[in-house]
Amino acid sequence: MPATYRVAILGLGGISRAHLHGYRAPENAARVELVAGADISPEARERFTQAGEWPAGPEGRSLGTSPEGRTLGAPRTYAQYRELLERERPDIVSICTWPPLHPEMVEAACAAGVKGILCEKPMAVDLAGCDRMIEAAERAGTVLVIGHQRRLQPKFTRARELIEDGAIGEPELFCGIAAGDLLADGTHTVDALRFFAGDAPVEWVTGSVDLRPREVRPEMVGRVGYQAPQPGERYTTRYGHPVESGAFAGLRFTTGLRATLELGACARPGYQRFHLYGTDGMIKVSGDRPAENEPYLHVRRKGAAHWETVEGVEAQNGFAREVTLLFESLERGTPHPLNARSARATHEVLMAVFESARRPGRVDLPLEAKSSPLADLLARTSVDSPLVSLES
Ligand SMILES: NC(=O)c1ccc[n+]([C@@H]2O[C@H](COP(=O)([O-])OP(=O)(O)OC[C@H]3O[C@@H](n4cnc5c(N)ncnc54)[C@H](O)[C@@H]3O)[C@@H](O)[C@H]2O)c1
Repeated sequence: MPATYRVAILGLGGISRAHLHGYRAPENAARVELVAGADISPEARERFTQAGEWPAGPEGRSLGTSPEGRTLGAPRTYAQYRELLERERPDIVSICTWPPLHPEMVEAACAAGVKGILCEKPMAVDLAGCDRMIEAAERAGTVLVIGHQRRLQPKFTRARELIEDGAIGEPELFCGIAAGDLLADGTHTVDALRFFAGDAPVEWVTGSVDLRPREVRPEMVGRVGYQAPQPGERYTTRYGHPVESGAFAGLRFTTGLRATLELGACARPGYQRFHLYGTDGMIKVSGDRPAENEPYLHVRRKGAAHWETVEGVEAQNGFAREVTLLFESLERGTPHPLNARSARATHEVLMAVFESARRPGRVDLPLEAKSSPLADLLARTSVDSPLVSLES
């Protein structure tokens, strides 16, 4: 009889629905007892327990409902997450709050004896935060997973297999493209570039950052982490920390492979789109919302005259897979593919892009500074320009 786990969710906003969907997926549901959720917002707590179907999750799927058509939330909610941990003693928690809170929540969960944590990306706002999380988890023997779930999607795993099978010859240059900012969105882009590169260590990073503030229109406030601009503030705030409006970076892996990163105002259109060039071919990985008739994955193989569409790589529920693999890690001790040490390596690249802009110049890894170079960069900048429209 396989083990069942008492599960709680900390932070009951947008992405918590995707976690809920992951726990409620058919392959996981029988092993999960969702005991409680915590949020400082009474509305969020109410929504989490009320009957009725929630709107579709971030990946467009509707949430699971019970046979009676009731929302599959949790029976109890708490305003204080520490009280939840103390009273409920969950085996697994999902941390679905903004990144400045991730370190203290991971530390508290580990201290409360939680066995497995699915913490949302980005891991934290600086490397000091990442290190606190890893230290707490390793000390307590807790499996800590960070939500870079693209690594589990078929088009990503198939692309990596094609590269490893030599379909494009020797990898030369990988390009990652995403609307958005380095921390919230670039963390997925860098993580995927590292994944395609076979997780080879990154040797150095050069980066430039566009610090012009982004326009946050009133209708955007409260959506995907955007906060209302404060009077006199010269930067945009998202998910509880300052963000840049664009970034462009170059990476060299120890294998010699180069990668480029285009984000926000510096990026070509698309979200999490990748062009992977080798000496003898190329792979294109579509963005989250492919254009009409655009394949999810296509390859121009070594020696072939035409592009080939790779079939059978439609998006799957990455959150469900993340949960299933957590069960395996807890029961067999197998490393989780989204483990925290890997996420720290991704975070180090993000910090190195800011550090390169701050110096300015090439940044060799490992990065010694543990605080975010963005604060220093913002303090020294004299950007005084019109707001950058999100469409630009
Ligand atoms: N993996 C992905 O693809 C993906 C997609 C979207 C968002 N995210 C990440 O998920 C995280 C949350 O994003 P979101 O869009 O759900 O944000 P959100 O603002 O919708 O939800 C955050 C929730 O946390 C609650 N909260 C704040 N302080 C709290 C505290 N002390 N205790 C308990 N709850 C508290 C807020 O009230 C809010 O309900 C971010 O780090 C974001 O980058 C990941």
